[in-house]
Amino acid sequence: MKRKTNLIVAIDVDSFTKAKYLVRKLYPSVKIFKVGSHLFTNCGPKIINYINSLGAKVFLDLKYYDIPSVVASAVKEAAKLKVFMVDVHASGGSSMIKEVLKATKGIKNRPIILGVTVLTSFNQKELNELGISRSLNNQVLTLAKNALKLGIDGIVCSPHEISLLRKKLGRKFIIVSPGIRPCSMGDDQKRFMSPQEAAVLGADYIVVGRPIIKAIDPQEEAKIIIRSIKNK
Ligand code: C5P
Repeated sequence: MKRKTNLIVAIDVDSFTKAKYLVRKLYPSVKIFKVGSHLFTNCGPKIINYINSLGAKVFLDLKYYDIPSVVASAVKEAAKLKVFMVDVHASGGSSMIKEVLKATKGIKNRPIILGVTVLTSFNQKELNELGISRSLNNQVLTLAKNALKLGIDGIVCSPHEISLLRKKLGRKFIIVSPGIRPCSMGDDQKRFMSPQEAAVLGADYIVVGRPIIKAIDPQEEAKIIIRSIKNK
């Protein structure tokens, strides 16, 4: 059976007013919105409550990375906000991931918990500069394998690693892929791919920010992307 790929729009803007405007424009064509550190630092839970009140869903992308007790408490708070998805850095390690899963076990409608592998803005050179000498693919695979073994629900990776993860780790976990570009924008995303290619490779969710939110007509751009991932 073919997997369905869903679009998540990253609303990386600097005010509640701008975020509200975009969500109003895009919903209900777009049903999931990603709130990241930029917007959340600006307006906090207010934006999550607003998106939930419309019947849309929130991916709270704060990429938690801290000592296990702090990250576990933060994820519990995210669950109280009734977010649909939340993420932690897979490189936070086994103790951190275990404590997050333990602290959230039994929560009714617990959010999907994702492990972020290597940021899509990274390339091999940048990874090596951090003292990590293995290949970028191997680093993503190692982080994903460990997080999934501990029981995490899904993985955030670039579309370039989807085939590898599906081949090595199977199909019973969620893949969320940012780094999606209908065409190159010459920006900070280094490991990008088109929406349709990512869908064909097996992404369950693709995250698209600037190509939609900076488009002249964000609604039309979102519709084009939704059509392209439906007709993969
Ligand atoms: O604007 P653009 O489409 O590049 O936005 C991608 C979004 O996905 C950003 O909000 C960024 O924080 C997020 N993200 C990413 N790479 C990851 C995880 C999340 O680009 N590995």
